Amino acid sequence: MVRAGSVSAFVEAAQAAELPPGRMKRIDVGGRRILLANVAGRFYAVDDTCTHEEASLSKGFLKGELVKCPLHGSRFNVCTGKALEEPAEEDLRTYPVRLEGGHILIGVPEGGTP
Ligand code: FES
Repeated sequence: MVRAGSVSAFVEAAQAAELPPGRMKRIDVGGRRILLANVAGRFYAVDDTCTHEEASLSKGFLKGELVKCPLHGSRFNVCTGKALEEPAEEDLRTYPVRLEGGHILIGVPEGGTP
């Protein structure tokens, strides 16, 4: 698992009501493209860009905890960021998520880039 560096702030990313269980969406937060997923009522955030090439995982398929890349089919666990299937070998960066009053907040590292 690749964890984000020091968290500078939690930024509002979406409303919980707009992302029901089993759904995911790409959001742009703090200069990053982040994939936000609802897995059985819990929200998880990982980098949206596949670690193999430049595909957007939000255009892929979410099944349970697993997202499948739309380009070459690598699968990642959105809860841990773990790469589970080649050709991708590198894990996705994960971000802390908070739910406050129906708002989904994501912790982004200082500076906006690694
Ligand atoms: S770009 Fe995702 S597996 Fe190749």
